[in-house]
Amino acid sequence: MKKISTRAQNIEMSGIRKFFQAAKPDSINMTLGQPDFDTPSHIKNAAIQAIQEGKTGYTFNAGLPELREALSVKFKSENNLSYNPDEIIVTAGAGEALFIAIQSLVDNGDRVLLTDPGFVSYEACVRLAGGISDFIPLKKDLHIDQEALKEKLNGARLLILNSPCNPTGAVESPESIKALVESAMDAGVTVLSDEVYEHIIYDSVHASAGTFGDDVLTVNAASKTYAMTGWRLGCIAGPSEYMEQCLKVHQYCQTCATSISQYAGLAAYTGDQSCVKMMRDEYQARRDILTSGFTEIGVSFPVPQGAFYAFVPLGIDKTKQIMDAGVIVVPGDAFGPSGKEYARFSYATSRENIRAAIELMKPVFEDE
Ligand SMILES: Cc1ncc(COP(=O)(O)O)c(C=O)c1O
Repeated sequence: MKKISTRAQNIEMSGIRKFFQAAKPDSINMTLGQPDFDTPSHIKNAAIQAIQEGKTGYTFNAGLPELREALSVKFKSENNLSYNPDEIIVTAGAGEALFIAIQSLVDNGDRVLLTDPGFVSYEACVRLAGGISDFIPLKKDLHIDQEALKEKLNGARLLILNSPCNPTGAVESPESIKALVESAMDAGVTVLSDEVYEHIIYDSVHASAGTFGDDVLTVNAASKTYAMTGWRLGCIAGPSEYMEQCLKVHQYCQTCATSISQYAGLAAYTGDQSCVKMMRDEYQARRDILTSGFTEIGVSFPVPQGAFYAFVPLGIDKTKQIMDAGVIVVPGDAFGPSGKEYARFSYATSRENIRAAIELMKPVFEDE
């Protein structure tokens, strides 16, 4: 028997990959949370150029100065957030940003407020830091229950917000984000705001939590915005007292983000942004095909306003039946206990695949 730390034993592999890997070759796979677009060519070319120019060594731990400068400009112009370059750390994706923030802020026994359902990494990162996750079930419309959350704020260390949300596709209104952040600030609770889907948003507007309070950290990434999941490029920004600590954790686990990806990121953030709109428009068209397909088969659910997920209240039996019919989705309990009556459909797949999935599902819902 090999000896394993309790820390590692206490976490489990994400439930999402399990379903992705289980998909048969002829099934329609709607499990994965990543853009199906190729990274835009001007971004790829910047990486190729960096390799050819020999920009292949370590960068500063916090990232290339010019990339941090570009991110500072992005935060100001797109999010109305004032972060100096030295308040920004470039990370290996949003995943590392979340990890180092939670390691740096959460102590043994600290309580962290999370929505249920929510993105799977939060709970695992809190557990690895010795913290205790305190889940707040979402309302029926899949939005955050302000009253339930306010009741839990006292004594909590951290509140993690994620709008647009994975897995629900819900977007909290600016008024809702403002009220949540102000209540957190009044109660002395730090907010960690995961905004990786900020540009994949349809009939709503994105509000950055950091515009409503000082004790806020912002996580973002090139992953979803620029179809760069495999490049592993993200960032964290926040008050310098926190960033100094995050930098230490980052240094010992990652040293720096990949130099080549950072040059690609520089081209992404400073270059032509029309690719972002093109992808957003395509996701919207796919969302519309999926939602009208569900209307046709008699299933209703809150229309997702952002990200590329629909969280559909199918129930456990119907979820199994659609999977047997060849549509592979992630059962909602992979995202928290309150998700168990739901299934997450990722529509980061072609229009043809979405139409084919609807056709495969039709017989499951006939004669109801
Ligand atoms: C809400 C959310 N945050 C963070 C991440 C991680 O992003 P990255 O690939 O940049 O690590 C994901 C990935 O699916 C996500 O859905």
